[in-house]
Amino acid sequence: MTDPNLYETITAIAKRRGYYWPSYEIYGGLSGYVTYGDLGTKLKRNIERTWRNHFTRQQNILEIEAPIISPEIVFEASGHISNFKEYSSECTKCGHSFRADHLIEDKTGLENVEAMGGDAIKRLLAEHKIKCPRCSSPLKEPTLILTMFKTQIGATGGLTGYARPEAAQSMFINFKRGYQHAREKLPFALAQVGKVMRNEISPRRGLTRTREFTIMELELFFDPQQPECPWLNEVEDEEIRLITEEMLANDERTPLELTIREAVEKGLILQEWSAYYMGVSKRFITHLGVPHDRQRFRAHLPDERAHYSAQTYDHEVQLSHGWLEVAGHAYRTDYDLKSHQKGADTDMTVLREDGTRFTPHVVEPSFGLGRQFYTALEHAYERKDNRNIFHLPRDLAPYQLSIFPLVTKDGLKEKSQEVHAALEKVGFTTFYDDRGSVGRRYARSDEAGTPLAVTIDYATLDDETVTIRDRDSWTQVRTPLVDLATNLRSYFSYTAQFEDLGQAIEP
Ligand code: GLY
Repeated sequence: MTDPNLYETITAIAKRRGYYWPSYEIYGGLSGYVTYGDLGTKLKRNIERTWRNHFTRQQNILEIEAPIISPEIVFEASGHISNFKEYSSECTKCGHSFRADHLIEDKTGLENVEAMGGDAIKRLLAEHKIKCPRCSSPLKEPTLILTMFKTQIGATGGLTGYARPEAAQSMFINFKRGYQHAREKLPFALAQVGKVMRNEISPRRGLTRTREFTIMELELFFDPQQPECPWLNEVEDEEIRLITEEMLANDERTPLELTIREAVEKGLILQEWSAYYMGVSKRFITHLGVPHDRQRFRAHLPDERAHYSAQTYDHEVQLSHGWLEVAGHAYRTDYDLKSHQKGADTDMTVLREDGTRFTPHVVEPSFGLGRQFYTALEHAYERKDNRNIFHLPRDLAPYQLSIFPLVTKDGLKEKSQEVHAALEKVGFTTFYDDRGSVGRRYARSDEAGTPLAVTIDYATLDDETVTIRDRDSWTQVRTPLVDLATNLRSYFSYTAQFEDLGQAIEP
């Protein structure tokens, strides 16, 4: 049975073991901020690498790293200053502010209240007599609040700037440079992994809504007269669960089960490029450990869609506390390039072979990394025999190997440290541990999600073999030290299974 308090369980382990914890703890904390610890930074880095492997492999996907602060003019042109807003309800007594749509969702169980628009939000707050969740006093009429961080650029001020709430704008304003580097050929993409900031009205649920997070984003530029995606066949058989705009409008929530190709042929996904990236997205989220039936793509209704989008599908996963958006797939048309063409008074068009000029169109897959991080942890978690185990995929786990001496005397400690150093030297991420009993060390290793534990015992001194223990089955094999690195390399590149690593040891 699923632990009804799974979110709290994971959060507590994450804090204790150093996956992540609330920031500014010694000053009483500040909601909306988290700090990743040693296990967390390693897991985060591995998720970033996995995302790059799925999304940026092809030669014409170019990665950039742009500044976080932009002058106001960029976000005026992009439409963010006018549109990046949420409804906020302020308490008449304690002065706390809350996201109005979330207050309604918490009270009524309704989903996606944001999509219903401002009038519905005001009506529902009144109808359900929603009060301040902190002090139960009446709330003021909700107002739209800009949720971007504002700053002054230059120590003496002068120029207003904003922290970027998405990385995308820097891809658009650098479109012409990218185009040059892509040898003036479409399609090509600019991709970026970096920090963004959103001044959330009421951040909540740890990693799932923070005021600063890493985004992994890609803008694919294409000619709308040549919208075919040459890579679509790579993912066309990928099965997805889809809730379309029309279904939402008719209150139908049971997803259609179909392949990417079928969704394109039925016209349910407007652009082949969006369909391609939704297929890649399905593979990426599956790679993080989420089964098919806990994933779905849900369309946005027009009121919910961002100002730049002609069609959006959220990629959602089912967590212990409900469905959560882990990625957005937006068809941004030529909205952004045209906006900056006007804002910067710079030509953003390109030339076709027949001599006609046009503004490229864009599809965007966008991933907020904290959400994938939490999703991977929750889906990896198992409580067994009073132990916490994170069955993280072997290429995502923070440490690949734990190295233990059976005991710390008779030269076993020195031998273990030698093995540890040798494996680190050839590129493995290893954790040496000689504290407490071997049983406790295995337990710590399982809680850190480490796939394999290598133990050096007395036999190692005689015959140069070690035991390897599997986190998932708790079974062991014995392997000669000379083969260890090669065998482990095969295991971590998924070309060998645990049983292939050595001679099975009877329990
Ligand atoms: N660029 C996607 C987003 O702002 O969520």
